[in-house]
Amino acid sequence: MNLSTTIADVHFSTCLMNAAGALCVTQEELETLGRSRSGAIVTKSMTPAFRQGNPEPRYYSFPGGSINSMGLPNLGYPAYAEIIPKLRKFGKPIIASIAGLSPVDFLEAAQTITSVQPDLIEINLSCPNIPGKPQIGYDVEASRSLLLQLKDVLTVPFGVKLPPYFDPVHHEAVAGVLQEVGVDFLSVINSVGNGLVVDPDKERVVIKPKAGFGGIGGRMIKPVALANVRAFWKLFDGQMPIIGTGGIVSGTDVFEHVLCGASAVQIGTAFVDEGVTVFQRLEKEVSEILHRKGYESLLQCRGTLQEL
Ligand code: DHB
Repeated sequence: MNLSTTIADVHFSTCLMNAAGALCVTQEELETLGRSRSGAIVTKSMTPAFRQGNPEPRYYSFPGGSINSMGLPNLGYPAYAEIIPKLRKFGKPIIASIAGLSPVDFLEAAQTITSVQPDLIEINLSCPNIPGKPQIGYDVEASRSLLLQLKDVLTVPFGVKLPPYFDPVHHEAVAGVLQEVGVDFLSVINSVGNGLVVDPDKERVVIKPKAGFGGIGGRMIKPVALANVRAFWKLFDGQMPIIGTGGIVSGTDVFEHVLCGASAVQIGTAFVDEGVTVFQRLEKEVSEILHRKGYESLLQCRGTLQEL
């Protein structure tokens, strides 16, 4: 089955890839993705310097999904600037995720990383786990100002990783800014920030940072992810490439994201739970669905969700 896709003129032989953050911090993890069936290599969000991240336990998986408060553990962008050229041998697109604790952090990383020419850059506007640092994506004016500055230094196509929004007014406001800036793609959604998972037997929280609060991913966030993919698909009249992320555990979930408007999908929680074999399993499952329904390619279904 043809599961290929194109985002900002970058060709992906399969549209399934890891989500930024999931097993993509070290060179070894990135090379494992290179050898896997993942359609791209997406890096952990990088900051100026190496970060150990938050204290452990900081990731917890449960039947409904996952909660994490990693705290941006990463090697620092100078290390990724050295690693990225070494990943080219795998012959698949490389997506560098950039984050920061201030606009200057983003700009520095953007300048260095753009010079090593990953295929795409994903600007992370939605890390929920740094104490005292609200998600930029929830401040439309701060997002606008940051993206306008980044646009001046970036020479490779770039998109934004957005947090989930829960009101059409917010979707419209964010889409307006992204239209004005002229981004090349959207990655939708990051985790549902600052949830709380409780262990009733132990009568305590399940992760250590931030008194147990963390970003929720996996199965339970799929309807929120689908709503955000669909809302942005419509606001951009189907003209904006969208990478759907959130709650993808089966081929059916991939299919639903594409029906809502995704051109590709990223896998976070299910990849962490299952390892790299998740990509071939999902490829097989979604291919079977498409075949059974008489489609010739995944993109044939993009955005075609019917309304009642
Ligand atoms: C982290 C979590 C995120 O959801 C994100 O977008 C970036 C970083 C983290 O805690 O490391």
